[in-house]
Formats: sequence, C-alpha cells, structure tokens
Amino acid sequence: MAKAKTNFTCTECGGITNKWTGKCPNCGQWNTLVETTVETAGVGNRFSNQHQGLAQAAPVMSLTDIEAIDVPRFGTGIEEFDRVLGGGLVAGGVVLIGGDPGIGKSTLLLQALANLSRTKKVLYVSGEESGAQIAMRAKRLAVDAKELKLQAEIQLEKVLNTLVDLKPEVVVIDSIQTVYSDALTSAPGSVAQVRECAAQLTRVAKQSGITIIMVGHVTKEGALAGPRVLEHIVDTVLYFEGDTHSSFRLVRAVKNRFGAVNELGVFAMTEKGLKGVSNPSALFLSQHDVEVPGSCVMVTQEGTRPLLVEIQALVDTSHLPNARRLTVGLEQNRLAMLLAVLHRHAGIAAFDQDVFINAVGGVKITEPAADLAVLLAINSSMRNKPLPRGLVVFGEVGLAGEIRPAPRGQERLREAAKLGFSIAIIPKSNEPKQKIEGLTVIGVDRIDDALSKIRDASL
Ligand code: TYD
Ligand code: MG
Repeated sequence: MAKAKTNFTCTECGGITNKWTGKCPNCGQWNTLVETTVETAGVGNRFSNQHQGLAQAAPVMSLTDIEAIDVPRFGTGIEEFDRVLGGGLVAGGVVLIGGDPGIGKSTLLLQALANLSRTKKVLYVSGEESGAQIAMRAKRLAVDAKELKLQAEIQLEKVLNTLVDLKPEVVVIDSIQTVYSDALTSAPGSVAQVRECAAQLTRVAKQSGITIIMVGHVTKEGALAGPRVLEHIVDTVLYFEGDTHSSFRLVRAVKNRFGAVNELGVFAMTEKGLKGVSNPSALFLSQHDVEVPGSCVMVTQEGTRPLLVEIQALVDTSHLPNARRLTVGLEQNRLAMLLAVLHRHAGIAAFDQDVFINAVGGVKITEPAADLAVLLAINSSMRNKPLPRGLVVFGEVGLAGEIRPAPRGQERLREAAKLGFSIAIIPKSNEPKQKIEGLTVIGVDRIDDALSKIRDASL
C-alpha cells in the first residue's frame, strides 16, 4: 500500500506544517506538532472504498420524523460487566477500557468474548501477547473458547481486512496503543497513531455495526494514554480501579452514551479469572473488633448502587515546615479545603499537623458527599477518640461551613440500616420523612453542629 501523505498539525493552535519542527511556526509553542494524515480520495480502508463514488450526503430530516428505536443490546454473560455497560453491549458501539497493567483488562475481555462466542462471531486481536499466551490464559480460565477467533496482529490495515473477510460481530483490540497504521510514520503508541487508529476503527464500527472493545493503556497518573480525543470519539469509557494488592477490582463507567455514568461493577480476581461480586456494599469496611479513632464509615452512591466505605484519617504532629496532606482514593485539593473549613468554622486548627486520608479497599470516591466523613475522621484522630459504634455519615461540606444534601439520601440510609448501622449523621435536608427501622437519624446543617452532636452522642 502506498504511503499516505502526512503533515504535522499543532495540538495548540491547529496550524499545519509539512515538516516536523520542535517549535510550532504558527504559535511558537514547543513540542506540539503531531503527525496527521492528509485526507485524499482513494486513501482509506476497504470499508470506505466500497462506498466511494456513490457516497451521498446524509439526508436532512426533521427530528420528529426519525423513529426513536431502543438500541438492541446483548449481554456478555458477566452480570457486573453488563451493569457498567448499561445493560450490555450495543451493535456498532465502541467501548474503551483503561487501567493499570496487570489489573485484569485482558482477563475480563477474554472471559466476555468466550461467553459471547457461543452465540456470536467474535474476534480477539492481540498486539501484546502471542496466541500461545492467550491460549494458556484461556485454559487457566477454563472458558469454552472453541469458536473464539484470534489474531495476533498490530497493523491496522491488516486488522481491517480481517474484519471485512471474517465479518465478526464483536471485536476486542488489545491494545489500541500497540496498533499502528501504515499511513503514518510515527511509532505505535504515539499520539498520532493512537488517534488515527482509534478514529478508523470507530468509523468501521459505525459503518458495519461491529461492536469494538479497545483496551487502552494508562499513564502513571492514571489517565488514558494518548490523545484526549480518544475518549471523545468512543461511545463508552470504562476504567479499572482498585488496589492490585487486594483481590477486588472495580470497573467504572466514566462516559457512556448508552447508559448511566459512574456505574460500578465489582469483581474479585480469583484463580479462575474475574468473578462478579453481586452484593458489594460491605466490601470496603475493614473489620475492627473495637472502635478505633480516625475511622468513619460513609455511604457513597456509585451509579445505581449505594456502597459503604470506611474513611480513615491519621493526624500526627508535623516536623516539616509545610505539613503534609496526603489522600488515597480521595481528592487531595479537597482535603486542603476541608481543613480550612474545619479551622474557620469549627475552630480546629491543623496547620502543624500531617493529615493522611485513606478510603479503604482501593475504591476511588469522587463525590463531595464524602466531605463530612473526612472531617469527622480527622476530628476523631486528632482527639484520639473513636466515633460512636454503628455510626454512618454522608454530606457535602461547603466553604461557609454549611452541610449540603447529597442525592438519593433515602437509598443510602436504607442500605446502611440493612447492614446493621444504627446512627446516621446526615444533612438536614436529607432527613427521611418516614422513620427507617433500626436507624436513628440526626440531621445537621453546619459542621460545628455535626461535631457537637458527635460529642453529645459519645458521652
Ligand atoms: P491481565 O488481564 O493480563 O491484566 P491487563 O491485561 O490489565 O494487563 O491480568 C493479569 C493478572 O491477573 C496477573 O497478575 C495474574 C492475574 N490473574 C489471576 O489472578 N487469575 C487468573 O485467572 C488470571 C487469568 C490472571
Ligand atoms: Mg493485557
């Protein structure tokens, strides 16, 4: 195949040059030029060639004339995976799964494809592992993979040809960073290659109705490696989370055109691959025989499911000029803000204290409803006094010291009551109208109010 013509586009200003230079001649930014293909007639894959010559512009229609059909879905046979996908895979849908190395991306997809292969034509394209390695994993997982087709290939054009010949219904690309297109001279994994390959695969999925699942590498910071546009062009973005030292793995939907975002699938890594955990609400509580200072249980709402998570705080005298503020599983800047609120509105100073916060079990909490739990845990650690037994909290804390309501308060409270919690300190506006069996609900509207209620309760 003839090399397609390429040029270099600046990611900052969009300026185009023919030659790569360190500095963009248009805007003067450094290291922003990225190789891109020049679209000319005749260049492209067999999918687009088939349509050439008869390509017409899509007709203009009024929205009311278009029939709104529910997208047909098919399950992967893994209940927790279907849950994050919003009920299953969609024909022509493109899913991107990111996560740390070794967290279980290939394992999950191999299990899902093996299940799907019983009823659908499926293809696993691997650029990372050889066929033998995948066969070994399939054996270990003891999956029925007789109908599972495998291709160890990294050249995009060859993969696209396979798609035309084989006509699979579901394809896994493991991973998008290893695939390269002949049309570009950049190395596989570079911004230009990832963007071009993902765009071409997405186009094919939309044209042919093939469901494509792409595996994406993540950077050290945990974001998907490659261009930001990768997340924009696909329909669904899923992230694997969790501590690789524990056996639990979470799959979170951060974008989903076919379902709810923030939906969470919970798995356990076992000898035989990933197994769904259907009732995970007590998973993120550590077991203490006696109450310990610095630990506070919160109810967080992940997608459609409430989860109980233990927040731990350790406050210790600092010997550094700048006291340390460290968080695991929560946002660090938010901690600095909460400490300022604690000082101004409750008179508790922590400027000379190191503060460490941890969400147990490697779960990441992004919602602000964790604020109250963080502050109560900090206060408890500072005073070396455990919080009352059976206490559960949630609520956002504002800069004025007010406690704001969290969405779906009732559901959270019911889940806590179900797991045997007996006292709930929650935002006043979340107070339930009807009493929840076995749960004493205390509504608070300010942080100092919450702290004094705790003092009263533990007396
Ligand atoms: P893998 O799916 O290869 O990770 P990724 O594709 O995200 O890089 O997962 C590999 C890890 O999972 C490896 O550390 C071994 C472990 N594992 C099990 O514990 N049980 C199993 O059945 C399998 C297949 C893997
Ligand atoms: Mg892998």
